[in-house]
Amino acid sequence: MNPVQSNLPPTIIETGDRQSSDSATTIQIIPAKKAARRRRMRPIQSLNDKIQKASERIEKERAEFNFRSIQAFVPVGSRVLDVGAWSCYLGQMLRDRLQCEVLSLDVVDANKTDMPFQVFDGKVLPVESGSFDVVLLLYVLHHAAEDHPLLEEAHRVLRDGGLVLVAEDSIDGLWNKILTIGFHLYLWLVTRMTCDGKFRTTPEWRQRFQAAGFTLHQTLPLGHHLRRVLWPNNVLFVLEKSSATIPRRSTS
Ligand SMILES: C[S@@+](CC[C@H](N)C(=O)[O-])C[C@H]1O[C@@H](n2cnc3c(N)ncnc32)[C@H](O)[C@@H]1O
Repeated sequence: MNPVQSNLPPTIIETGDRQSSDSATTIQIIPAKKAARRRRMRPIQSLNDKIQKASERIEKERAEFNFRSIQAFVPVGSRVLDVGAWSCYLGQMLRDRLQCEVLSLDVVDANKTDMPFQVFDGKVLPVESGSFDVVLLLYVLHHAAEDHPLLEEAHRVLRDGGLVLVAEDSIDGLWNKILTIGFHLYLWLVTRMTCDGKFRTTPEWRQRFQAAGFTLHQTLPLGHHLRRVLWPNNVLFVLEKSSATIPRRSTS
């Protein structure tokens, strides 16, 4: 049967200086050098495909892990701003499972969903003051060249009585430092995601939250990321606005 009629791709047999297939209509002659290069590239292509599939699986697992970490602090039907959302899978879960209205932001477009998404400059959140019930900064602050302006912005866009949820990788103690730095090297190798900011200890983060006008409501140890013992230990900080507000810069 003609492969075109069957809707199946033709079986191509590489012969070195030409390719032939089981259909006369699909014979394609290619130079021997090109054919040899294609053969050499095949294992690399297949390794690349495997890495892509693994990274896709991990992104979904990660969104599940994040969902479980924050679920208790996100009211049903609330307005959520996910800053540094990457794939936006978490926003999709919040919309589908908790009927939240979610806007996802990031400095790059890695959105793999149909969720509302905007690229921004990594400093000024392009939304109105006091307009969100929950602001998420999950594993983002150590990627931002400057974390303070982002924290100030999170404070500005949060409505009174709302919560900012910050997750970070722990560097409390030598072993946590090793796990966190090792993991980010791996992350860079697989996704080319850079870390432009700083990892900080839990007391250092607390000071920074306070300086940005927040009161620390709760600190929750989340255990190893995705429950893998050689991945970083994670911490969730639950922040609310301090009653004594700090001066804010105005945004148009
Ligand atoms: C480790 S990923 C975390 C992604 C997602 N929040 C999660 O937990 O799966 C860090 C994210 O922060 C983003 N990012 C880096 N600098 C940023 C900045 N200044 N403001 C907002 N996001 C930033 C990166 O593009 C990336 O999507």
